[in-house]
Amino acid sequence: MSMKLLILGVSLLALYTIQKYIELRRALQSVQYHPGKVVLLAQNSLLGLILPRIPGVLRGRNATWLDKHQPYAEAGWDIVAYVTILPSPKVTFSVADAAAIKEFTTARVRFPKPVWQYKALSFFGGNIVASEAEEWKRYRKVAAPAFSDRNNKLIWNETLRIMFDLFDNVWGSQESIAVEHALSLTFPIALYVLSAAAFGQKISWKDEDTVPANRQLSFKDALHEVSINCVTKIIVPSWAMGFSAYTRKVRLAFDELESYMLDMISSRRNAEKKAERHDLFSNLLDASAEDPTFTDRDLTGISLYSSLQVTKYTTAHTLCFTFALLALYPEQQELLFQHIKSVLPDGRMPTYEDMSLLTYSMAVFNETMRMFPPVNGIPKYSAEDTSMTITNAAGEKRVLPIPRQTGVVLNTVGVHYNPRYWKDPAEFRPGRFLEPDWPRDAFIPFSAGPRACIGRKFTETEGIAVLTSLILRYKIEVLEEPQFASETFAERKARVLTGKPGLTLTPVRVPLVFKRR
Ligand code: HEM
Ligand SMILES: *[C@@H]1O[C@H](CO)[C@@H](O)[C@H](O)[C@H]1NC(C)=O
Ligand SMILES: *[C@@H]1O[C@H](CO)[C@@H](O)[C@H](O)[C@H]1NC(C)=O
Ligand SMILES: *[C@@H]1O[C@H](CO)[C@@H](O)[C@H](O)[C@H]1NC(C)=O
Repeated sequence: MSMKLLILGVSLLALYTIQKYIELRRALQSVQYHPGKVVLLAQNSLLGLILPRIPGVLRGRNATWLDKHQPYAEAGWDIVAYVTILPSPKVTFSVADAAAIKEFTTARVRFPKPVWQYKALSFFGGNIVASEAEEWKRYRKVAAPAFSDRNNKLIWNETLRIMFDLFDNVWGSQESIAVEHALSLTFPIALYVLSAAAFGQKISWKDEDTVPANRQLSFKDALHEVSINCVTKIIVPSWAMGFSAYTRKVRLAFDELESYMLDMISSRRNAEKKAERHDLFSNLLDASAEDPTFTDRDLTGISLYSSLQVTKYTTAHTLCFTFALLALYPEQQELLFQHIKSVLPDGRMPTYEDMSLLTYSMAVFNETMRMFPPVNGIPKYSAEDTSMTITNAAGEKRVLPIPRQTGVVLNTVGVHYNPRYWKDPAEFRPGRFLEPDWPRDAFIPFSAGPRACIGRKFTETEGIAVLTSLILRYKIEVLEEPQFASETFAERKARVLTGKPGLTLTPVRVPLVFKRR
């Protein structure tokens, strides 16, 4: 009896294996055996986000960051095919080819976003990043005008206010300030700028937190908790959020932040006299007034996505890597300082109008995002059977078949480290962005085309204001610690610049000293 069962089991397994094998062959044929790798498990599952690389089994969460351009160099093409067997054989093209990226991002209808992968991000109401087609158009139309020039001016002013509040009221007369991890500085900066520029709520470094009578958390705390614990909210299903003290705390923060936003909406709607406000939230309210189908929850959805994007995931990390790079490359820092002084010869405060002249600050910021793109991969898929003519570094051409439902990932790391576009890609060389013919299509930290990041100018404005004001007053150095006294420059670089991939690339530990100039 048990023998029969065993034989049955083995036969079923054999059948299953044969079936998978046939499907796998079909998947490989469908892309004409384009060079790449076969891996057992799909990367876009939860496992792919959590586990490290297991050769042959899973590409893993740090593969993109660690591999950089290597897989493309091995394949001889700047597009490689990753074929995964389970749950069912499927091809995903990983792309580090600038011309192809241009086509994938421009043809929005042919290559839409796999919105089902983003569903977890739509916490409150609908969400601009997690929608497609008509729904997306409706969001984008209301959101785009909010990112106005008036708003950028506000971002500039508020960033400077926050930086000088730090210099004058926290650092004061100290000649040198040491920090264990620069993220402890850049995170609050990004949070305070966001609070002022997106919600019109000014926060100072030394603020006492006030909790209104009908609330349990202050706005500052709610925003802080939400931005650092957003992954928990994504991973834990909502029915399970009440099970532990930690998840209850996270749930409270999300509920409180939503209530704050709903209050802001009603107080702004009901105000007798309209105040002159240029924060994103007020702008969104004005724009949505023209479209009566917009609900208040739609608005909180758009705003919340923005807030998470800015604080934890992106600007704070980028600024932290920028400080680290400038500390490691003092000669680049000196060039930056001299350039800032040449734009502001009398040592006055930079104004928003100076921003376009502060090209070196911008180049440093761009070069940081080239080397440490916060978003490692941008997913798309093919909505139809199609093809694309691609060219490799050797000048060979090939027509790549792209069957319907093929996954596509634009690999920001791969294209940013592609020597075809960037000479010595591992070198920190901001000057490359000041050359007239720098390769624009090979620089995609904010994606490109109609679905590119709507907050690019927001981030750039904040970044330039932070960098310029800081470098004008302080010199950044790596903190000397006895346990690292005998390390080489290469070791020091590797240590300070270690990034942990995940939802976005996070600096692990950046110990710095800020010395008054
Ligand atoms: C260093 C900073 C930032 C980086 C690297 C970044 C990167 C990106 C990328 C790569 C996308 C495309 C995502 C995809 O297609 O899957 C995106 C979309 C988006 N970003 Fe950003 N972002 C940054 C800052 C911001 C800020 C400050 C805001 C808002 C205040 C923002 C709001 C958005 C929105 C609303 C979208 C969706 C646009 C659409 O689908 O139409 N981002 N961002
Ligand atoms: C890759 O990730 C794993 C854990 O997820 C980690 O142990 C390993 O050190 C990482 N590799 C590198 C070089 O960062
Ligand atoms: C920004 O600051 C400048 C100078 O302090 C001021 O003239 C301008 O009105 C401010 N702009 C905004 C949008 O707050
Ligand atoms: C920096 O990159 C942006 C694109 O993200 C580009 O528009 C800008 O011209 C670049 N500027 C400099 C100075 O590098």
